[in-house]
Amino acid sequence: AWVYVAIGIGAYLWGSLSPALIISDRIGKKDVRKYGSGNAGTTNMMRTFGWKFGLMTFVLDVIKGVAAALVGRWLGGQIGMSVAAVFVIVGHNWPVYYGFKGGKGIASTLGVMFVLMPVQTAVLLPVVILIMALTRYVSVGSMLGVILESICVFIFYPGETLLQVTVVVLTVLALFGHRGNIKRLCNGTENKLSFHK
Ligand code: G3P
Repeated sequence: AWVYVAIGIGAYLWGSLSPALIISDRIGKKDVRKYGSGNAGTTNMMRTFGWKFGLMTFVLDVIKGVAAALVGRWLGGQIGMSVAAVFVIVGHNWPVYYGFKGGKGIASTLGVMFVLMPVQTAVLLPVVILIMALTRYVSVGSMLGVILESICVFIFYPGETLLQVTVVVLTVLALFGHRGNIKRLCNGTENKLSFHK
């Protein structure tokens, strides 16, 4: 069991490394959490610093998730993969190095999902991007994306309880991270997708 504890701690520390905060610090010592939605993630990096830095954040966060799930599986099989998948997101959302104020974990969850259920994730990704483009709300696409992943895990992986629980936990984490967005969507004050020039 100690190997799973070690994987959990390792994934948490790895997940706490925040590309959004590292990049925003490097480019002019500005903390992205003081701008826009206050979130340390792809969408708010685009909003605050432009699409290039947003894209950079996205790619690094996806890689962070993929790497955590792969290393977790390598060290601890299916259980190790699940522990790593959850704790890399916990680290991303509540990073130990940054006062426990991070992002919502969507890009890293995408990376993790690519390892957990590659085919379904590859099919869902363009659907989610389309939803984001049509609604102009990144948060709506993100939330629908994780909900669709949860539905898919029960349809395509019947009887795989560990995988099902993992995907549902990731979905709950993502929806919890979006509680501010849900409130803003209800108020009609949610930020539309935008790019700083
Ligand atoms: O990836 C997070 C996204 O769904 C919402 O980001 O900055 O608009 O709260 P933001």
